[in-house]
Amino acid sequence: MSIALVILAAGKGARMQSDLPKVLHEIAGAPMLVHAMMAGQALAPERCIIIAGHGADAVAGVAINQNSDAEIIIQSEQLGTGHAVDQARASLADFDGNVIVLYGDTPLIKTETLAALNDKLSHSELSVLGFEAKDPGSYGRLITDNDNLKRIVEFKDASDAEKSITLCNSGVMAVAGPLLFRLLSEIGNENASGEYYLTDIVAKAVAHGASCKVVRCFETETLGINSRVELAHAEHIFQTRRRNEALENGITMPDPKSVHFSYDTFIGRDSIVEQNVIFGPGVTVETGSRIRAFSHLEGAHVSCGCVVGPYARLRPGSELAEDVKIGNFVEIKASLLAEGSKVNHLSYIGDATVGARANIGAGTVTCNYDGVMKHHTSIGEDTFIGSNTMLVAPVSVGQEAMTASGSVIVRDVPSGDLAIGRAKQENKTWLAVKLMKKLRAAKATKKE
Ligand code: UD1
Ligand code: CA
Repeated sequence: MSIALVILAAGKGARMQSDLPKVLHEIAGAPMLVHAMMAGQALAPERCIIIAGHGADAVAGVAINQNSDAEIIIQSEQLGTGHAVDQARASLADFDGNVIVLYGDTPLIKTETLAALNDKLSHSELSVLGFEAKDPGSYGRLITDNDNLKRIVEFKDASDAEKSITLCNSGVMAVAGPLLFRLLSEIGNENASGEYYLTDIVAKAVAHGASCKVVRCFETETLGINSRVELAHAEHIFQTRRRNEALENGITMPDPKSVHFSYDTFIGRDSIVEQNVIFGPGVTVETGSRIRAFSHLEGAHVSCGCVVGPYARLRPGSELAEDVKIGNFVEIKASLLAEGSKVNHLSYIGDATVGARANIGAGTVTCNYDGVMKHHTSIGEDTFIGSNTMLVAPVSVGQEAMTASGSVIVRDVPSGDLAIGRAKQENKTWLAVKLMKKLRAAKATKKE
């Protein structure tokens, strides 16, 4: 059965206290909306529809960037979750598969859970994702009869007896498409909020003799984000989940709590991630590498057997081949470092290619920016760049060449040559001692 995802993302999220639409606030480096989309897209849906309203342009931009086939439908007035889903009616007129409704502000939902919800539709017409709430607060309550869902009552409309129910509505629902829109045309807004509740379709379905079921999940998965406090809490849950996955997948972390992952971080088996390492988006670390303490990586590819850090920074476009060593206080950006090359201390390598086994001395800087444009530096295989070399790009240093420490290299260095680009040293006989004497004498006369 084909699937259409309908993701509700029109709400304002006033409690976020933000100019950014709520669903664009990030968890682990990706907007919440992207998390919801990714969870749903893993089921290979035929359609992915985003209902946008507040900040629709920004929301649409993020959605299309994540999935160029996503369809954006504008709900210009937010009249409730039922009204929101109904905006997809025309677009899904010919769709006869299952519709899964998700919220853009519920980022921790797992693909397996959505799959279970969808599978439930092979024995029923409607399935709702529910959870046992520790503190059911203002969630909608699921009114069940054994295994069957009878209706959902919103907190504001619930009786005291109904409020004491702890089985709550997550908001995620799966319904056969044609039935969904038939039921939606039957709901009204005569309730405590004056809204069209999606949840009202359950009682309508039951009245038509349709079978409605509940699929249960853990409360953490259905955490809906309404405030920055909840956003931080969701981040915490996400990080805990990822750390545990990493440990289970064969990554050593002496202090997992201090390591921060992005939504897309990939780390290979038998790698070691030391304390206080931060992974921004787009990082892959292959097997058997060691990321040492206090390093920050983003948009970087680290091949097998590398050592990075402590205190290293890999910025987007850093590509490390096997057995590369990056040491303390080294920054790499948009550069390719070939196998076995080393940049061990206090250096900046940007917009560069570094050949195999090249050794870059302490304090080397690729001067890549002239104030207007960026330029490339090319360093050949087996080169030796002396400490404190300034490589003024565009420039290239050939294979097996050397630069003398303290050189400012402004012209290409041919392979095999030694480039010395600094003032020539002169030694003045006994001048140091004479000079000191003179200075001390000057100071003494000044005091008198
Ligand atoms: C909803 C459920 C409630 C459930 C809870 C779980 C209804 C009526 N109630 O309540 O049973 O326990 O979620 O979190 O469905 N949205 C739109 N357009 C609208 C209204 C909402 O896009 O017109 C979006 C919001 O941006 C949000 C989501 O739908 O992402 C949920 O809406 P919200 O108003 O937060 O519903 P709740 O009151 O939390
Ligand atoms: Ca909500």
